[in-house]
This record gives sequence, structure tokens and C-alpha cells, in this order.
Amino acid sequence: MARRYTSKLTWDDVTPEHLYLNRRQIMAGTGALLGAGLIGGQAQAQDLEPNTWEEITTYNNYYEFGTGKDDPARNAHTLTTSPWSIEIDGMVDNPGTYSFEDIMDGMTVEERIYRFRCVEAWSMVIPWNGFELADLLDRVGVQDGARYVAFETANRPDEMPGVRVPVLDWPYREGLRLDEARHPLTLMATGIYGRDIPNQNGAPIRLVVPWKYGFKSIKSIVRITLTDEEPFASWNQANAREYGFYSNVNPNVDHPRWSQASERRIGGGLFARREPTLMFNGYEEEVASLYEGMDLEANF
Ligand code: MTE
Repeated sequence: MARRYTSKLTWDDVTPEHLYLNRRQIMAGTGALLGAGLIGGQAQAQDLEPNTWEEITTYNNYYEFGTGKDDPARNAHTLTTSPWSIEIDGMVDNPGTYSFEDIMDGMTVEERIYRFRCVEAWSMVIPWNGFELADLLDRVGVQDGARYVAFETANRPDEMPGVRVPVLDWPYREGLRLDEARHPLTLMATGIYGRDIPNQNGAPIRLVVPWKYGFKSIKSIVRITLTDEEPFASWNQANAREYGFYSNVNPNVDHPRWSQASERRIGGGLFARREPTLMFNGYEEEVASLYEGMDLEANF
């Protein structure tokens, strides 16, 4: 449900996880399963029972804090997330350095329950809180001729032990085509389960693009640049044969070293389910038109 952003959340504003799940079950009983935030038909038909806070915040990738799945949760507490600002530059009418508070002021923050599919063939369902990137782009004014949006993560060797190791060409960078960036599913997330986003998940503000493999969803963003050239993308640059610029979830195009036809859903105890991977991660109805006429095997 849409609500205005309040910069000082109190514990009264937070829905504890067990109540949250109860509320969802109650809502499911009345047929209002997914709340106002979730768009579209096909995604609703799938299992969107969210993973637990514990699962979401202890098993993920944030290479600036190490390459192990539990490294981010262990190490990311060293990141200073306040004050925070984002430089917005390139082909915009109002370039500048915007504080986190400036950006949030007046933004409509919604809850969005999104499927998440990692390129490593595991998946989760995450209840994000955030605003549409399109709203921010409208506020800064995108100039004619801009075709892409480039994003950059903070690069702080003092606070991020991982960037002292050259596993990637730091800072972590990603990019979207402008129409992808403007798509209503594309979210700038600032929370999970109604709480501030934890450091290990990309505090204080990160991108979420649910029809693409997880690595496109760049964390702890400090710069957004509007450009007319395809932006540098960290994984694409590191290994273009394995990671394309688009990185749309596609069960029909395997990663060179493993199949993308199915995924292991995190959680569910010993007998973790393997589920078939869906085209565009289940958001085909919403996003397929963005790629009409494109060869998705050549543009993977
Ligand atoms: N952003 C930065 N800055 N550094 C990273 O290493 N990893 C990506 C993406 N964003 C990454 C990043 C990858 S590979 C994945 S799978 C997701 O973050 C995982 O994090 P999440 O579960 O919080 O979305």
C-alpha cells in the first residue's frame, strides 16, 4: 500500500514478521492476496510466499564485503550509511548531489513482493519497500537523447574489505536501457519487511529489477548517470561470454557452465524445492514488449 515516506520510522511503524505473515494469510483468505503494490497477472499466479527476514539478510552476494554468501551479513556493519548522498549527472536537467533525505522527500514508498532469481540458480521472494525509479528520473528531468542509465556503488576501501581485492573492477557498476529503468516494476528499494534495508542488502538505497538476474540489482548506490552510450556493467566487463548486458532471466538460455532451466528456492528446510525458472522470472506479461523483435539468445 502506498504511504508517504517518514524519515524517522519508529517501532510502531514496523510490522513484526509474524504479524506480517499473519496479515498476508488473512489477506489471502479475503482474496486480496498481494496488496496494492504488485503489478500484473502472471506473477500473481506463482508462489509468492516471502522468505524470512533471516533468510533474506544472511544469504546473498555483496562482493565489496567478501565473496562468501555469509560474508555480507558478517562484514557489512562497517559501512557508514548516514549521511548518504547520490550524485545524479549526465543528460539531466537538474544534475547535482542529492542527499538521501532530499531524494526521499515526497517519494511514494510502496511495498512490492518480488521474486528474486540469482544467476547462480537459486531464488527467494522478498518484500521490498521502495519507490519507482521513474519517479526519481522525472524529478531530475531526463534530457532528449539519453538512452541508458548507469549506476555506481560506493567504493570505500576503509569500510569495504572486499574492494581491497581485485575480484571485480571496482566500483561495482551496472546499467539499464532507459525504457527498462522507467518500467513501473523497476524499484529503488530502501526497506525490507517495512524496516530500513540492512547494510548487507545494499543500504541505504539500491536498485531492484525483478525480471533480471540478481547481479543487475546494484546495491548502496552513490551515482546515477544518464547517458547515450551502453554503460559499463561489472559482470559483463569481467566475463562477457558468461554475463550479457541485458541479463534477463531466461530458462532457455543456459549460462555457459550451468543450466538456467530451474532454480533452488532458498528456505523450506531439508527438502528445498527445485522449481522451473520462468521467462523473465515470471514477469513476462509486464516486460516482454520491451524486447519485441530482439534476439534474446544473442542479447542475453
Ligand atoms: N551490488 C554490489 N554493489 N555488489 C555486489 O557484489 N551482487 C549482486 C547484486 N548487487 C552485488 C550487488 C548479486 S550477484 C546478487 S545475487 C544480488 O546483489 C544479491 O543481493 P540481494 O539478495 O540483497 O538482492
